[in-house]
Amino acid sequence: MVIKKLVIASHNRGKIDEITNLLAPYHIEVVSAVDLNLPDVEETGTTFEENSRLKAVTSAKLSGEYCLADDSGLCVDALGGRPGVYSARYAPDRDFNKGIIKLLDEIEATHSNNRKAHFSCVIALAHPQTLACQIFEGRVDGHLATEKHGAGGFGYDPIFIPDEGDGRTFAEMSHEEKSGISHRGRALAKFIKSLDEA
Ligand code: IMP
Repeated sequence: MVIKKLVIASHNRGKIDEITNLLAPYHIEVVSAVDLNLPDVEETGTTFEENSRLKAVTSAKLSGEYCLADDSGLCVDALGGRPGVYSARYAPDRDFNKGIIKLLDEIEATHSNNRKAHFSCVIALAHPQTLACQIFEGRVDGHLATEKHGAGGFGYDPIFIPDEGDGRTFAEMSHEEKSGISHRGRALAKFIKSLDEA
């Protein structure tokens, strides 16, 4: 499959930057939904896959281009997998500083020592004419720090410590380090492999 232009169907600057960086070596013109004034599609699905398909297909219909959407979230064991698909909306006023405080308070209220969590990411690539989607998934396991560390990344990065790292949070890592092990990096690596194979 040869893709010359790709729309990232997102208004999340953190996601757009990570995806754009990872696609930089592939000679694809990458633009975002923000650049094209496409709407921020409402996430009415109940799974990562439903929401990523919805965002990719809606944006492909409106732009007539290949569209790639990421739906992702943080799933916390002690909270039965929440906030999961609702991770963005979990943060009061969509402010992640408030979201992190809310999450740490909620975990503390469970009186559980279990701080295990994982990030999941489902990427959907929608074809501009058929609107058919290809799906790519990624996951990273880790645990949650008791307070924020680091100034990089976005969302819940300052409290997420991946199992495969050296004890630093995602927010303490470079773009490359995070993407080498992250849920999004892994899902995107599968998408890139599919381009190479076609
Ligand atoms: P959505 O996919 O637009 O519903 O948003 C996913 C939400 O999950 C983000 O707004 C963040 O709160 C969280 N999230 C997803 N991926 C990451 C990540 O790589 N780091 C930190 N938070 C993330």
